[in-house]
Amino acid sequence: MIYPKIIGTGSHVPEKVITNFDLEKLVDTSDEWITTRTGIRERRVVKEDVPLSALAFDASKKAIRSAGIEARDLDLIIVGTISPDMQLPSTACFLQEMLGAKRAAAFDIAAACSGFIYALSIAEQYIKTGSYKTILIVGAEVLSKVIDWTDRSTCVIFSDGAGAAVLQASSEPSQVVLSTHLFADGQFAKYLYIPGGGSLHPASHETVDKRMHYVKMSGNELFKVAIRSMEEACLIALKHNGLRPEDVDLLIPHQANLRIIEATAKRLNLPMEKVVVTIHKYGNASSATIPIALDETIRAGKVKKGNIILSVAFGGGVTWASTVIRW
Ligand code: COA
Repeated sequence: MIYPKIIGTGSHVPEKVITNFDLEKLVDTSDEWITTRTGIRERRVVKEDVPLSALAFDASKKAIRSAGIEARDLDLIIVGTISPDMQLPSTACFLQEMLGAKRAAAFDIAAACSGFIYALSIAEQYIKTGSYKTILIVGAEVLSKVIDWTDRSTCVIFSDGAGAAVLQASSEPSQVVLSTHLFADGQFAKYLYIPGGGSLHPASHETVDKRMHYVKMSGNELFKVAIRSMEEACLIALKHNGLRPEDVDLLIPHQANLRIIEATAKRLNLPMEKVVVTIHKYGNASSATIPIALDETIRAGKVKKGNIILSVAFGGGVTWASTVIRW
């Protein structure tokens, strides 16, 4: 039996902190509104000249080091992002070059906030089929570059960061991805999107004047779909593995909103002590939130051998996804 084993993790958040009080000076908002509606107190953003690949590189280097391998051992690099360095080529190709991972194939996937679990799922399949042995997956975003800093409905929420994991084919069933479950429903695409800059509305003076290159979000509509979908994805993942909610030692949810996280935990009857929360300090860095939370939890020594980790994401598309990992 070949198991997809997580042999190393790494993460990187930019140094620059933007607090809710800083945002009060930019848009008509308040620390009180942001804290009570989202749970966010501050978030990290990159300096202007820092591209996605730089964040992804820092997180990847740490993951490769903690895995005890060399970059040239990698067979494949997958980057989950919706804020790549460029439309062409993929950021994964830039990362491959920066790491010196000469043997690795490389591609990006766009599944928004579900990007890390989507990438994990792809890696899981390649390893289980024996096609590839060692795979780097990254969830990374520089959303500060694609949000409208005059739009209070988005600029208070989104942030920057990167997290990475190295998976390797192993005969030992520890630190193993037991299953992944992916979902999508394009009827809700209209609730979270960037209208300009693609082939539908190629970049032009008009698209820029209309601010079409920024994220547009209908948060209220997404809120309801997110809670329903995340609960469903968790229950499907647990059932698939013959587990019950009480068997879960750690829930690592996507960090979109503390109220969504709490509602998901409540529906699963999980106490908040089992739930990893980073949103207060990092905001919503889309595909990066789960790998950052996973890496920080491991580094804090909070993941014990044999622990059952349930992780669940929800994001633009809409997409949602879940995974069960046995440490
Ligand atoms: N500061 C102050 N007021 C704000 C505000 C801000 N930053 N943003 C919106 N408001 C106002 C609205 O204009 C509205 O005012 P009105 O009642 O006078 O019309 C009021 O606050 C309520 O807005 P609403 O959008 O209903 O708030 P909400 O409770 O739904 O919270 C979100 C907004 C975005 C925090 C929440 O809907 C959310 O987290 N949605 C899910 C996001 C998500 O999952 N995205 C996909 C995955 S990343």
